[in-house]
Amino acid sequence: MWIYEKKLQYPVRVSKCDPQMAKFLLEQYGGADGELAAALRYLNQRYTIPDKVIGLLTDIGTEEFAHLEMIATMVYKLTKDATPEQMRAVGLGDQYVQHDRALFYSNSSGVPWTAAYIQAKGDPIADLYEDIAAEEKARATYQWLIDITDDVDLQDSLKFLREREVIHSQRFREAVEMVKADQEQKRFF
Ligand SMILES: [Fe+2]
Repeated sequence: MWIYEKKLQYPVRVSKCDPQMAKFLLEQYGGADGELAAALRYLNQRYTIPDKVIGLLTDIGTEEFAHLEMIATMVYKLTKDATPEQMRAVGLGDQYVQHDRALFYSNSSGVPWTAAYIQAKGDPIADLYEDIAAEEKARATYQWLIDITDDVDLQDSLKFLREREVIHSQRFREAVEMVKADQEQKRFF
């Protein structure tokens, strides 16, 4: 069960209409290392992970949906005043023809999101290492997004998201150690 809070986890401000940047940000919306993939990966893994890690996956998976909402807000704000010509000029012509300005789960190249991006191996160590890798890739993508824009308002929100990925990675690393310690203990008895 979830309880929805009607506010963003962190404010999203953009300085200007910038459909080019919106296109880049789609990588974190419907891309392989994006927020949708992260949320669905963690929430799905909960059913076969040791009990003491379930809460962590629920917490982080839920937070990823809050990040997805922030990315959606960014894309919406960056494109809402763009003309069809501007959309076309930055390579969003296909997106416009298919969806107008509605959001759609695709990556920055326009490739639709697929469940093949995520794994559920059933082995807690394998799954948690995938989660750590996912967080590190998301952190790196946020860094490239920060580097590619000169919009300081947008950079501020992206820096918040980048820092959350660092925290998530650390927490997954701690979870690996907890699971390994449990497995070691079982070998003794
Ligand atoms: Fe994350």
